[in-house]
Amino acid sequence: MTSAEGAPGLAARLRDATAVEHKDTENRSFISRLMGGELSLDEYTRYLAQYAYVYRALEARQPQPGDPEFLSEPALPRFPSIVSDLAHLGAGDWEIAHPALPATQAYVAHLESIADADVPRYLAHHYTRYLGDLSGGQAIASLVARHYDATPDQLAFYRFEAIDSPVRFKRAYRDQIDALDFCEDQAQILFAEAKLAFRFNGDMFNALGDAVPEPVAS
Ligand code: HEM
Repeated sequence: MTSAEGAPGLAARLRDATAVEHKDTENRSFISRLMGGELSLDEYTRYLAQYAYVYRALEARQPQPGDPEFLSEPALPRFPSIVSDLAHLGAGDWEIAHPALPATQAYVAHLESIADADVPRYLAHHYTRYLGDLSGGQAIASLVARHYDATPDQLAFYRFEAIDSPVRFKRAYRDQIDALDFCEDQAQILFAEAKLAFRFNGDMFNALGDAVPEPVAS
């Protein structure tokens, strides 16, 4: 979206500011291998369990007076779906079966350290995960179903029951970012925090990948 004067809006600036981090995160070996069918449903379960910690922390924030409404959009929270998926994936007591990796602990500690009233920082994490789930996440769901025979019961994470059209939802979400009355300092905090959010995700992928070394080419 551009403003009336033709300058890019905040949402477009945010996408541009994180474009390099997006490419870099998307291309991490664990994700490429997961999406390429080289891993297993067990590896997917390990990955999902780490996200249970992340979403529990992300979704623990209490709405604050003056928050933009879309930060409390009830269609978005994923923690209950992830827990349900983990049960259907046979993870049992997921916290016992899959302790948080150090990279996950760092991401969670950071989410917990963000002040409740800090809209730019919280928005950065909200945007990075939920717009990601509504974009590349949809591709992950199809590929996990195709490669590893995951059933719909195991993929509720990616099903946003209250969202008819992810494309329209994402457009409206970006419009709401554009409508925020951020000063330039707040915009810069938003961009820096979103880059950091991508890095936390990338660190988790690296840690997950380290546990399943790539086969050495003979
Ligand atoms: C599995 C690999 C991934 C693929 C194939 C992928 C693909 C995509 C695609 C095609 C879009 C554009 C959708 C659109 O314009 O509506 C997108 C957007 C996005 N993705 Fe990913 N993605 C991947 C991983 C990730 C990860 C790991 C994250 C976050 C950690 C992420 C966060 C985002 C965000 C925030 C957007 C919205 C960009 C914007 O329009 O502002 N993606 N992704």
